[in-house]
Order: sequence, then structure tokens, then C-alpha cells
Amino acid sequence: MAKPIHILNGPNLNLLGTREPDIYGAATLEDIRTLCTEAASDLGCQIDFRQTNTEGELVTWIQDAAETASGIVLNAAAYTHTSVAVLDALKTCTVPVVEVHLSNVYKREPFRHNSYVSPAATGVICGFGPHGYVLALEAIAKLIAGKQE
Ligand code: DQA
Repeated sequence: MAKPIHILNGPNLNLLGTREPDIYGAATLEDIRTLCTEAASDLGCQIDFRQTNTEGELVTWIQDAAETASGIVLNAAAYTHTSVAVLDALKTCTVPVVEVHLSNVYKREPFRHNSYVSPAATGVICGFGPHGYVLALEAIAKLIAGKQE
């Protein structure tokens, strides 16, 4: 049985749907989970979809994913811009990591232009809303398939 792709979501993403809808849209995190479940089924892979508001829990989940996941889709939300601990945890991962943001962070405030995730990520997807998660899953599925060839 192939390992699942872990989809890890950081702080305040539990509020999607009501949180700044002009920026993040109307989809809730449950809607995004459903989208990811459907995309994973099409791609023939399993997912483990989680959200936390706590930096330490996110770090523990990244450490866990390094062992138990075939890849990581990470929307670290605000910790993207602040967390050396998240970067250090990602540096221990040998599986593909795709950094995702719903919004185009480069169109927003300058403090969102710095990412502690990007230096340890295989690739970055931002600005496509919930569809970015599907793109990230497709990218990881392709990388995993390429390794098996
Ligand atoms: C976000 C962008 C971050 O800057 C912000 O702190 C978030 C969400 C996004 O998905 O667009 O919480 O990661």
C-alpha cells in the first residue's frame, strides 16, 4: 500500500468561507478537503488532510510526514512568513514538498513575500484558490510516478 500524501494546513485556515472572503473566496476548508479527496481518487492516491492553529503541532506533523507520507502539500498560512521551526522540520524531509497558498502572496503586503517554506519546497503554487491544492497533488503524484519508473 503506497503511503498517503499529507495535506497540512496552518493557522486560521479553519475559518475559510467567512475569513476575508474578498481574498480567500467562499470555499470552506471542508470544501477543499472534498476537492482534494476527489482529486486524489482520480490520481489513485490516498490523502491525510489536517489543519492546526499551533506552530508546534505543524512541526510535529511535518516530522511525522517525513516518515509516513509519500509527499507533503503544505499551506503553512501565516507561519510561512515567520517560522524557522517549520523550515528546519522541512529540511529533514526527503519526500516532495509543494508549498501552496490560496492567494497570490506576491500581490499582497511585502511581509508575505518572504517564505520560510520555499527554500525547502520542491515547488510553490499560489494564487489559484482551492484549485492550487489539486495542482499540488497532481505535481506530487507525477513526481512519485517518475520515481517508480
Ligand atoms: C495564505 C497566505 C498567507 O500569507 C496567510 O497568512 C494565510 C493564507 C494563503 O493561502 O493565501 O493565512 O497562506
